[in-house]
Amino acid sequence: MNGILHTERLRLRHWETKDLLDCIEMNLDTEVMKYFPAILTKEQTIQFYDRVQQHFLEHGFGLYVVENTSTKEFLGYTGFMIANFEASFTPCVEIGWRFKKQFWGKGYATEAAKACLNYGFDTLGFDKIYSFTATPNLKSENVMKRIGMHKTGRFSHPKIDKEHILNLHVIYEIEKKL
Ligand SMILES: CC(C)(COP(=O)(O)OP(=O)(O)OC[C@H]1O[C@@H](n2cnc3c(N)ncnc32)[C@H](O)[C@@H]1OP(=O)(O)O)[C@@H](O)C(=O)NCCC(=O)NCCS
Repeated sequence: MNGILHTERLRLRHWETKDLLDCIEMNLDTEVMKYFPAILTKEQTIQFYDRVQQHFLEHGFGLYVVENTSTKEFLGYTGFMIANFEASFTPCVEIGWRFKKQFWGKGYATEAAKACLNYGFDTLGFDKIYSFTATPNLKSENVMKRIGMHKTGRFSHPKIDKEHILNLHVIYEIEKKL
């Protein structure tokens, strides 16, 4: 009904208010948030949820909830955001992901992201999709590699302190196949 995309094991769908509890729990987990400047408090996740809704209203696409088709559990999210911080390659379409820790190591992020890439190119009409992450976040970089993205460089994230260990980011890109 509310499903945008279906894969072998997953359903990607729009957010429902019931997802907030799972998202709050995920964003409070220090392991999940290890490569971000800080965890998100309950209030910050509610603001994040509102920003995600606003993004859908403005652009018609965004971050989708990833649900296990058999158990209906909330696993995390994957999808697109317009990145508009100051950099040579912005504004651009970014693909991103975040999953609850207990669902890592099962290939869910890769499966969801592959489906999103196809949707982005074939249905949303994107020509190029970017992804970036802090250099120590190898798990995220590995997802980028597994879905066929190519590393094109590094950049200093303008919203993170120059001295901070998370300042330096890798950039990955993928273009629509002609
Ligand atoms: C980034 C993140 C989504 C990656 O999760 P992940 O579990 O490593 O990635 P996947 O879901 O694609 O799973 C791949 C792993 O599952 C394994 N796997 C097990 N069963 C599998 C299956 N049926 N199919 C595919 N892979 C499977 C793979 O071998 C791989 O293991 P490895 O990492 O030991 O090589 C996760 O670490 C996360 O949510 N981190 C916090 C948020 C974050 O940093 N987001 C990115 C910000 S830029």
